[in-house]
Amino acid sequence: MEKFVIKGGNALKGDVIIGGAKNAAVAILPATILAADKCIIENLPCISDVMASLQILSELGARIRMISKSTYEIDTTHLECTEVSNELSRQMRASYYFLGALLGRFGCGQVAMPGGCNLGPRPIDQHLKAFTALGAEDSVEYGMIRVKADHLTGAHIFFDTVSVGATMNAMLAAVMADGQTILENVAREPHVVDLANCLNMMGADVHGAGTDVIKIRGVKQLHGCSYTIIPDQIEAGSYMVAAAITKGDVVLHNIIPKHLEPITAKLRAAGCEITEYDDALRITRTGPLHPLKIKTMPHPGFPTDMQPLMTVLLTLAEGTSIITEGIWENRFRYVDELVHMGANVQVDGQVAVVEGVKKLYPAPLRALDLRAGAAMVMAALAADGVSEIDETQHIERGYENIVEKLQAIGADIRRVEIPVNTITRAI
Ligand code: EPZ
Repeated sequence: MEKFVIKGGNALKGDVIIGGAKNAAVAILPATILAADKCIIENLPCISDVMASLQILSELGARIRMISKSTYEIDTTHLECTEVSNELSRQMRASYYFLGALLGRFGCGQVAMPGGCNLGPRPIDQHLKAFTALGAEDSVEYGMIRVKADHLTGAHIFFDTVSVGATMNAMLAAVMADGQTILENVAREPHVVDLANCLNMMGADVHGAGTDVIKIRGVKQLHGCSYTIIPDQIEAGSYMVAAAITKGDVVLHNIIPKHLEPITAKLRAAGCEITEYDDALRITRTGPLHPLKIKTMPHPGFPTDMQPLMTVLLTLAEGTSIITEGIWENRFRYVDELVHMGANVQVDGQVAVVEGVKKLYPAPLRALDLRAGAAMVMAALAADGVSEIDETQHIERGYENIVEKLQAIGADIRRVEIPVNTITRAI
């Protein structure tokens, strides 16, 4: 177990290279199962969710070869097992993509109820609705989800809610079903488009990703491909907040500015100066922070995964901000940690009212989940003194080398091993 020790107050200055998108990678890795061939996947972020996905593939029988830190060759030709082990399923939310991919290739699959961040109820009824429409039967017993189909046939599916996971899982299951599948009311996130592009590189026939209707014509089989994952929109947004909160001057490289537009618009409104280039962006802040009204929504709305980071930034704005969480029922749990730092935030259900304060004070903090943890890092970078953040394994699930990247732009941050006997006492 490790903790982060952060001495705040430094203005962050310099360059950051953004890694591949976690939420694209965790769907594209299971998608390689459908190829039954060799795939080379590039720009994989070196984070624990990606390592867990590779380990699941390996346990299922895929041959995996590391070509570089961010490029892997995955050969799923001889994969036979269709059951994902309980322990690995529970390590991350995205293990549910193995259901769609295994169903699409073998007509059956099994995973344990997926884990991931605690953001309130996280049902998967829309995933199962899509599998059922395609001809599968599902059952949930002793925490294991099983899907099975004699034959998958294309279907017209109208999702009751806009779900990233259900959209991508339905795509995985449908690309080799007989006939046409039409998915309506789908998610439009950049990672949905990335999965569609990758599947098309494998020979699938997927159209419309990025709009709210996706049409898939089933093909008999797919083949291997070489594919480069898009940059991580939320990692980029997080470093933008780091620059903004420390009155810094940071250039982000390997990004797609278009994917960042909802974040860029709000940061500009908060008083940041942002210059966009083809695949880079510079963000600076010299003046005061202005308060904002933000409501999180499916893409192209403001992303929920940036909500904790923006809330932290707005604790230092001159005035009252109102933040409404429109996706998850319980994504303000981290606010108690901020209050310990002197922030003035009142939460009522899905709405947080933030009265800006002059400064944040250092405190012992917990990373309650991935983005809440990253938000605590931002708060500690702004606080005048030394803060410690526990449970940083949540942060490492989604941020590649966060300590090293922040150090390179001038942050005073260290990873410190927590002695085992201290952990035992704390439990
Ligand atoms: C993905 O989760 C991301 N995770 C989340 O990012 C992100 O917050 C979320 O999309 C929204 O953008 C991954 O991609 C691995 P959803 P997902 O299905 O797919 C309801 C992070 O920090 N819903 O789009 O699980 C659900 O309750 C993580 O990187 C149903 O009702 O989210 C929620 O209110 C945290 N039934 C809404 O839809 C379903 O079957 C959106 O969920 C599925 C979802």
